[in-house]
Amino acid sequence: MRHKIALVGAGASVNNHLAALKALDDRIDLVAAVDVHAERLRAVCEENAIAHCYTSLTEMLEAESPELVILVTPPATHKSLILECLEAGASVWCEKPLVASLADFDAIDAAERRAGRYVSTVFQWRFGSASKHLKNLIERGVLGRPLVGVCNTLWYRDQMYYNSPWHGKWQTATGGPTMTLGIHLMDLFLWLMGDWDEVQAMTGTLDRAIEVEDISTVLVRFAGGALGTIINSALSPRQESMMRLDFQRATVEVITLYRHNNQNWRFTQPPAIENAEVSAAWNELVENVAGNHEAQLRDLLDSLERGERPLVSGAEARRILEFTASLYKAAATRQPVKRGEITPDDPFYFSMNGAAITGEMTV
Ligand SMILES: NC(=O)c1ccc[n+]([C@@H]2O[C@H](COP(=O)([O-])OP(=O)(O)OC[C@H]3O[C@@H](n4cnc5c(N)ncnc54)[C@H](O)[C@@H]3O)[C@@H](O)[C@H]2O)c1
Repeated sequence: MRHKIALVGAGASVNNHLAALKALDDRIDLVAAVDVHAERLRAVCEENAIAHCYTSLTEMLEAESPELVILVTPPATHKSLILECLEAGASVWCEKPLVASLADFDAIDAAERRAGRYVSTVFQWRFGSASKHLKNLIERGVLGRPLVGVCNTLWYRDQMYYNSPWHGKWQTATGGPTMTLGIHLMDLFLWLMGDWDEVQAMTGTLDRAIEVEDISTVLVRFAGGALGTIINSALSPRQESMMRLDFQRATVEVITLYRHNNQNWRFTQPPAIENAEVSAAWNELVENVAGNHEAQLRDLLDSLERGERPLVSGAEARRILEFTASLYKAAATRQPVKRGEITPDDPFYFSMNGAAITGEMTV
């Protein structure tokens, strides 16, 4: 079965998607590309032999009727582009952060149901073989209950990065490193640790001339009782992504920067309680698939072929947006925030900084 796909956005991150599309070219037809920036678009189309190029999404949808549209445009453009794709009958795979707020998510969710199509977020970290294996072991109860979690995205983004047209501003970026950097590892962390219950947080803008935070620090209590800490930083010269989960019967951790494969993961049992069954279960991990765009796209195509909802869509895509909205609210109000507390009568339902942000953006 072949899938008719169109790519929207030909900027810095398009190569991640082009590599994934090339790797899966036995299953897809990349029929068109779209960008409002005509020169950038032409270069990408020529380099990648994409036959049909458009500066208007509307024209592309009318002419090509793709089954799936991949959106690689700045965050504030996502909502309106997603709604247009759904109305045209296409499913959407959209870069993170999916949208700016829970209000935007709920509007998309309603449109998705009306259209009978799916909208999923790019969260490629979930799709590495080690992440999937760990999720399976947790669900089987092999490792015991999770008790302690650490989730640190310690990256470095200089002022040049924030001087770009959309980074660093609430309206265009939706937030700082919480929304645009740490969101990958936090999504994985929340997926693995189970439902979260309460969050406390501090944010700061310490060393970049930006509107949004350049650091957030977070405490989280999970519904099952586990406690966790999170740091999302754009200020860390020695960069690292580190997630560590301590279960009753083992510690499982990953240390890397932007991608992971099995070599980045470590499994440790308590010194006195060697349990052969637990380590044998971890060692069932033989296949070594990197958590990258190709792995997620493969999984997404499998879901579409089975007529099933893709993994990072619906409630699975809403979780991280509710968490980040709650985190920002906790930081702004200096009060703990409970899951479910942010409802349509709350300013943080409408934007991550609790301000009414309206209007769309085109770079
Ligand atoms: N998953 C990842 O690992 C990862 C990594 C980096 C960035 N991203 C995400 O990818 C997205 C794009 O980031 P980027 O760094 O490529 O941005 P970018 O600014 O380099 O490129 C965005 C492109 O979108 C185009 N564009 C803007 N508005 C448009 C519209 N309305 N219609 C068509 N094209 C439009 C711009 O002209 C530009 O060429 C962001 O959401 C970002 O958070 C994801």
